[in-house]
Amino acid sequence: MSADSVAIAITGASGALYATRTLAALLTRGVHVELVISDYGRRLLRDELGDQATVENLMPYLAARFGGGVAGGTIAVHSNRDLGATIASGSHGCSGMAIVPCSMKTLAGVAHGLSRSLVERAADVMLKERRRLVIVPRETPMSLPQLRNMVLCAEAGAMILPAMPAFYQQPKTLDDLADFMAGKILSALGFDHDLYPSWTGRVGS
Ligand SMILES: Cc1cc2nc3c(=O)[nH]c(=O)nc-3n(C[C@H](O)[C@H](O)[C@H](O)COP(=O)(O)O)c2cc1C
Repeated sequence: MSADSVAIAITGASGALYATRTLAALLTRGVHVELVISDYGRRLLRDELGDQATVENLMPYLAARFGGGVAGGTIAVHSNRDLGATIASGSHGCSGMAIVPCSMKTLAGVAHGLSRSLVERAADVMLKERRRLVIVPRETPMSLPQLRNMVLCAEAGAMILPAMPAFYQQPKTLDDLADFMAGKILSALGFDHDLYPSWTGRVGS
């Protein structure tokens, strides 16, 4: 199994910047990304990041936004309706998957093993194959069913990595906040990175 191939799913929760920053960081490291975006994920990309942030224009968008280094990696885009895509099977060699951001709807589908879409099916594959599944939920406040769905996913082996950037790095920009989340996601997927400085024991040092 190649450690340099991961699946990224983008669903219709707020936080499209977390997704694009994570994609750019992986690509810049030379990773191959199997990408699937739900219908509402596509909508949120445009709503939050502008008209250039379309699936069709993704590589040029990422290069313009995060630098030409993204050309070091590759992306295969799958339809969320294609349950026969590579990542729908455990025989495919993806080492892990992140759902970033993860809507409460998709969270529920993963928690209950529904596999109604490629995002849900690929996540189910990660759980059954005991591979890394990183779920980045975003909602506030959360209902009891939503909290329980996170527990179900955690019990099944997923890492729940909420979209909760920290402030002890003294972020100045939205990109600083997104870097922090993307760094956490890369670490959870097993990649090292320099997206934020290591904690030195003191704020601001
Ligand atoms: C502008 C906008 C923002 C949304 N933000 C969130 C959110 O932060 N969290 C969430 O769980 N759902 C959010 N939703 C609702 C989801 O997009 C909706 O439940 C959708 O059915 C999710 O489908 P998907 O998981 O297949 O992408 C938002 C919808 C819109 C239009």
